Amino acid sequence: MGTTANKEALAILGGVPVRATLLPYGRQAVDEGDIAAVAQALRSDWLTTGPRVGEFEEAFAAAVAAKFAVSFSSGTAALHGAAFVAGLGPGDEAVTTPMTFCATANCVLYQRARPFFADVSADTLNLDPAAAEEKVTGRTKAILPVDYSGHAADLDALMDLAERHGLTVIEDASHALGGEYRGRRVGSVAHMTTFSLHPVKHVTTGEGGMVTTQRADLAETLRRFRNHGISSEARERQSAGQWQYEMVMLGMNYRLPDINCALGLSQMKRLDENLARRREIAAAYSARLAGFPGLILPTVRADVNPAWHLYAVRVDTAHLTVGRAEIFRALRAENIGVNVHYIPVHLHPYYRERFGYKGGEFPVAEAAYEQLLSLPMFPAMTDADVDDVVRAMGKVLEHYAG
Ligand SMILES: Cc1ncc(COP(=O)(O)O)c(C=O)c1O
Repeated sequence: MGTTANKEALAILGGVPVRATLLPYGRQAVDEGDIAAVAQALRSDWLTTGPRVGEFEEAFAAAVAAKFAVSFSSGTAALHGAAFVAGLGPGDEAVTTPMTFCATANCVLYQRARPFFADVSADTLNLDPAAAEEKVTGRTKAILPVDYSGHAADLDALMDLAERHGLTVIEDASHALGGEYRGRRVGSVAHMTTFSLHPVKHVTTGEGGMVTTQRADLAETLRRFRNHGISSEARERQSAGQWQYEMVMLGMNYRLPDINCALGLSQMKRLDENLARRREIAAAYSARLAGFPGLILPTVRADVNPAWHLYAVRVDTAHLTVGRAEIFRALRAENIGVNVHYIPVHLHPYYRERFGYKGGEFPVAEAAYEQLLSLPMFPAMTDADVDDVVRAMGKVLEHYAG
């Protein structure tokens, strides 16, 4: 740790902040090539479902080593599609993690089924397969692990559990595009893997999502579900000179427009570069924050290569004179845009009121939540930005070291 910086007064106490402007925790990277690709789509015949949808899906499937990729209008819509295709319906149950964005559990509710949470493993904060198995009943149809922060869940154990109980694994890999598990790409392992293409993610389409799968039958139903349950697309009908279409099931309009797919296709070209930079930033944080008082760094299991959507540290308040909230505020005052991922889903008022959660049900997730802080992490971050984060962490943690 630096020495002079640590003697400076904290910005929250009237000192000079480490940075003059806020460094956000995440930010999109859009270049001139992306803008040209979108402009080209806007000048073409197709604004919504056109040729770029299939091209983007093919590029995406290839990137994650999946046979099929089906685009959706958001990561949430992708989850809903997967929940539908898994056959979730009234009276059914699914097991998921509380350490996620609420959309992971909400997609089960959209299907009028019931999500049950199971606690996470203390190291990765990913769904603990043993805890998940305890929640499986005769009504369980699906398991929804999340690759928290971009670190793949324990997929082999979960697939094994699913096999033994006849369940579908829907992996929410919103954080993990480009991540690897036991030498395999995230997106190629679970029955269905969902991604979000929101601006803070690895590749963005503005709003957007994707489901990948190795199974043609699942891909086919996903495509129908996103298009009102209709068995063919308008473009296919037009090229075949036909007007007939058949609605064969109840679906939604969850299509991702050609304009957005143009952006996604252009962004995909930089996925590897983007991943490499995220990994470089994570390695710099891990090397330079090691040994800071009261700081627990993220664990990476030996068989996982994370995609580093988030770099989430835990503040060990046993070694500090204040709690996470004060550390958060002090870092924000230094203009470091820290964030917290996540408030455990069962603690949100909707879940408390509907299902009677009171807190204390999932002790590992709840204890982690009290300590979590996501540090800035996005590919356009410069080395000087990383220096600022390290300097601010040192300044704040040293001040509050107990
Ligand atoms: C883990 C997780 N699941 C689902 C979603 C929902 O994705 P979207 O915002 O694209 O609907 C997000 C988005 O932040 C997420 O982080």
